[in-house]
Amino acid sequence: MMAPGIIVHGGAWSIPENLLQPHRDGCKAAVLRGWQVLQAGGSAIEAIEAAIITMEDDVTFDAGRGSFLNLDGQVELDAGMMDGATLAAGAVAAVHRVRNPISLAKQVMASEHILIVGPGATRFAEKVGMPLCAEEDLVIERELELWRKLQNKGPGYTDVLFGRKDLATVGAVAIDQAGNIAAGTSTGGSPNKWPGRVGDVPQVGSGFYADNVGGGGSCTGWGEGIMRINMAKYAVDLMTAGQPASEAAKGAVKLLADKLQGVGGIILIDREGRTGQSYTTEHMAYAYMNGRMAEPVVAV
Ligand code: GLY
Repeated sequence: MMAPGIIVHGGAWSIPENLLQPHRDGCKAAVLRGWQVLQAGGSAIEAIEAAIITMEDDVTFDAGRGSFLNLDGQVELDAGMMDGATLAAGAVAAVHRVRNPISLAKQVMASEHILIVGPGATRFAEKVGMPLCAEEDLVIERELELWRKLQNKGPGYTDVLFGRKDLATVGAVAIDQAGNIAAGTSTGGSPNKWPGRVGDVPQVGSGFYADNVGGGGSCTGWGEGIMRINMAKYAVDLMTAGQPASEAAKGAVKLLADKLQGVGGIILIDREGRTGQSYTTEHMAYAYMNGRMAEPVVAV
């Protein structure tokens, strides 16, 4: 039997002093929720879903309710997950009116599809019986204020310098008692983004990847860069070639920085159950827990 473990992240950027504690608290709550699932004998997929839902429901993060608004002033969400035992994957992009897109991604994973986008994704949620909320249920005053400020700068202005402005994408990677590895990521994307703009998060191999042979990973940061180096798959390939999670994480963010001067971060679990994390930014919020630890490590 494998020793289970889980690692979560809550985004990589320069987190201001007053937001450090909410990020720590949110990551801790998420990792403990996922850990509870693993301890009860749940699968890695169930654990990452539970952890990510916890962060989607926490307005600290740019995922689920409280996400950045797009140019139209609406929350538009991306999420994806992968099962390293079977290479099954599911994702949704630019979806509206869904509180927990990671659960919708799981439903997609159980279907014949891999990625469903836009109105089709909302329709798919209805088809599988997932309750839809109103557009405004996902919008909070803090984000409306930011959105109004950005409108004053002219149409289509995107005040996003990844790593310097808020980008609190969330993600989780877990290994269960059977040694199966799963990874998932969820985001509201960038502030004032063009409607339909999609980053790395719902793309297999970019924002997330898992294969029991090597390990699993979840990314955060500048999606337009992460996509072009398939960062999660790159990191898993390094682990498949024998690197421990800690080294592979460093290698993946180095590639992002060297090739594209990109900013971001990654969390990993390798096939031995070791965790790793690395980031180019001032902070990355993350937490991890396994059976050898009395309590989780929580860091920003
Ligand atoms: N990494 C999140 C995004 O670019 O949307």
